[in-house]
Amino acid sequence: MSHPDNNQLKVLLEKDEIAKAVARIAAEIKQDYQGKRLLLIAVLNGSFIFLADLVRQLDMDIEIDFVQLASYYSATESSGKVTFIKDIKKPISGKDVLVIEDIIDTGITINFLLTHLKKMKPASLKLCALADKPSQRQITISIDYLGFTLPNKFIVGYGIDFDEQFRGLPYICYLEK
Ligand code: IMP
Ligand code: MG
Repeated sequence: MSHPDNNQLKVLLEKDEIAKAVARIAAEIKQDYQGKRLLLIAVLNGSFIFLADLVRQLDMDIEIDFVQLASYYSATESSGKVTFIKDIKKPISGKDVLVIEDIIDTGITINFLLTHLKKMKPASLKLCALADKPSQRQITISIDYLGFTLPNKFIVGYGIDFDEQFRGLPYICYLEK
């Protein structure tokens, strides 16, 4: 696929819809983790804007760590192979861990990460995703906090890229082919 020009971008989720979803998720998380210290593990790069908006609404005791995984290789299809570019910095045993991801598509990427983290014996391990695209799922994944369920379209914006483009868009678009 050649580089898309902007008339291939169609707005799917406006800024205010995203903001409402983030506020709802933040309220759910605050409710569930009352009195606890929460470790957020965000998956780079796609979750960085979602994470930034979310943590500013959490108003609770949190720590943040990051992982970076290679699984997509700048194509519009998942490759099925996942490796760590960056693993977590500190041990997580005994901690309440919430993974922050942008999109769950086949489930292969997040399954790899959750399997890895589970072995490190956290006190609890939950998943928060901005978007779920369930139609291509290959592995059953339970998403504890979810922004949107979306059709099988390639999306960009609000941190999410196509070949490193469009991350800075303040809303979410799909790419028309
Ligand atoms: P999965 O392993 O198939 O679940 O793919 C999940 C990963 O692929 C996410 O972390 C995203 O980074 C990326 N991804 C999946 N769908 C899209 C999309 O529509 N736009 C951009 N990236 C996507
Ligand atoms: Mg990703």
